Amino acid sequence: MAKAIKHTSPSSIPRHVAIIMDGNGRWARRRHLPRFAGHRAGLQAVRKTVRACAEHGVEVLTLFAFSSENWRRPKEEVGLLMNLFLTALEREISKLHENNIRLRIIGDTTAFNAEIQQRIVDAETLTQNNTALQLNIAANYGGRWEIAQACRRLATAVQAGELTAEAIDPEMIQQHLSLAHLPEPDLFIRSGGEQRISNFLLWQLAYTELYFTDLLWPEFDEKAFAAALDSFASRQRRFGRTGEQVEAQTQV
Ligand code: IPE
Ligand code: IPE
Ligand code: MG
Repeated sequence: MAKAIKHTSPSSIPRHVAIIMDGNGRWARRRHLPRFAGHRAGLQAVRKTVRACAEHGVEVLTLFAFSSENWRRPKEEVGLLMNLFLTALEREISKLHENNIRLRIIGDTTAFNAEIQQRIVDAETLTQNNTALQLNIAANYGGRWEIAQACRRLATAVQAGELTAEAIDPEMIQQHLSLAHLPEPDLFIRSGGEQRISNFLLWQLAYTELYFTDLLWPEFDEKAFAAALDSFASRQRRFGRTGEQVEAQTQV
């Protein structure tokens, strides 16, 4: 068995955690409840996770709330999810603000109704100078959409003569993505037992540590979060280097 390497340096706490909150529907079905009851219960898990991040000193939390593919769900479920999103924005924002948390919504928000779009602007504006946890909610988000829109912006700049095609490199693409100003995710968590990315942060996850749990999202709590952090702390991140190189580096 491979020996677990325990890191006690500050980097054993991830700066940025990104989560696919999956399993709400199955949680509800097991209780013979409508799927929506699972989404409502999922909101409680969001609150616990935000609190846990603040307690552990995580700087950035990105949560996948609604994917660009989730429009394919039954109309009724999509409608209920939109309502939940709207009421959550209304109800949670003052508490987030009190806790010095900055909220950003990433994704194509133009698809949402005018009321939701206004709430998003209000919530982002209210919390824009907050310096504690940076909370990003991915809503109508798709990793491919995000990369495509970065390419579109760069192509427009080339067309306008502001940029040459040769100057485009990975850093430049990265600068045109939604989370450009924030550190890349160190730890990715997916609840609900599936082991896939489902079009989440495709670009940003290039070197992220992946963690999957069978817990359904409404069951996810402080203990589950701590278990994910423990798993993260036991990993050696090599970024292409050898294990020996990394060990030599951490000894200095
Ligand atoms: C995740 O839970 C929440 C959203 C995608 C909005 P699901 O609704 O996907 O739950 P399962 O996968 O059906 O259990
Ligand atoms: C991913 O969950 C999206 C969110 C959690 C918002 P899904 O339940 O939609 O993912 P797939 O379709 O099973 O891959
Ligand atoms: Mg699902």
